[in-house]
Amino acid sequence: MNAFDPTLFDAPIARRDSGCVKWTRFDEDVLPMWVADMDFAVAEPIRAAIADRLAHPVLGYGVAQQRVKERIVAWLAARYGWEVPPEAILLLPGVVPGFNLALRALCGPGAGVVVQTPVYPPMLKAPGNWGLRRVDAPLTDDDEVDMDALRTALRGAGHGPAAQDGAFLLCNPHNPTGRVFGVAELAAMAEACLAENVPIVSDEIHCDLLFDGRRHIPLASLAPEFAARTITLMSAGKTWNIAGLNACWAVVPDAGLRARYAAALAGVADHVNILGLVATEAALAEGEPWRQALIAYLQANRDWLLRAVAERLPGVRLRAPEGTFLAWLDCRGSAAAADPHRFFLDRARVGLNAGPDFGPPGQGFVRLNFGCPRALLEEGIGRMQRALAGA
Ligand SMILES: Cc1ncc(COP(=O)(O)O)c(C=O)c1O
Repeated sequence: MNAFDPTLFDAPIARRDSGCVKWTRFDEDVLPMWVADMDFAVAEPIRAAIADRLAHPVLGYGVAQQRVKERIVAWLAARYGWEVPPEAILLLPGVVPGFNLALRALCGPGAGVVVQTPVYPPMLKAPGNWGLRRVDAPLTDDDEVDMDALRTALRGAGHGPAAQDGAFLLCNPHNPTGRVFGVAELAAMAEACLAENVPIVSDEIHCDLLFDGRRHIPLASLAPEFAARTITLMSAGKTWNIAGLNACWAVVPDAGLRARYAAALAGVADHVNILGLVATEAALAEGEPWRQALIAYLQANRDWLLRAVAERLPGVRLRAPEGTFLAWLDCRGSAAAADPHRFFLDRARVGLNAGPDFGPPGQGFVRLNFGCPRALLEEGIGRMQRALAGA
């Protein structure tokens, strides 16, 4: 495979009757550019591995074999320079169940969970799922960490005398802003958590989708004392577009924390989809050339989108995403300001994610998924341009 083979990603794929959520939610004339999966075919080696597994006729409960854990450990070491033993890895049916169950493991009744708004909606909902308090620490207007707001929120997380009552739920790379936090920001956040005795649940699901040569930094890899207090969640689901296979992994280097987490998983998330395990292993073992090509394609889509927004969508602003395939469009200065989701759905027939679903700072924003063939992205922007021009 060439370093960059656009033909892998240019081909339109009809998904409407494939039983996927993305192409089902809206009417047939709406172009769906919302939920975070991509309109790209899964990499050949992954499909081949699944086909091989299906040659075996039994599909009973899955278990993570040692070699899957070893593959993950090798990936963490090679890609991020993060050395952890295989026993630190737990396989789970998804990152969303993973962070929900982490809160169950970590938080006492009435404790607070700190989230950095605007943020992925299931993170906003997770504290409420367990009767916990959500404590918002909004990012700055420039999508940077507001350390004062974070410290105040952590103090309010109510960890109390029983250590580890509250939690900090981090999203890095950050959905929806596309921010990739750097060493200094990550270390400052982790230090603040340590100072308040608040453990960290770090959702790093977008970690292998970074642009401009960036390298992902797992927060827990920065210092042993951070690792001891952190549950890190990662997955092949976003990067290799296999989210429907429901498999992910947690990295929990501290044995005590791991036991506590395992106890919270028991009876709720005991098994992982057997094809998800196969696909995860194949992605990490053989999926790197495809991933490299994907990054090149997504980065070109991002750059095209940045120009198109600036030149063709009057009053809409976009700060360049540093990772992910998500664009957080600030429509507050545009004709769509009052309710951009509704505006673009009704007038452009483009289905986006509504900003307010990501928390209060999302008012006047929409999230657009650019993980799609360029032609589809151009179609979407063309529709949005015409809608704004006609407003
Ligand atoms: C930040 C983040 N976490 C988790 C998920 C979903 O993870 P999973 O499908 O493994 O539950 C997404 C999907 O968009 C996401 O953006």
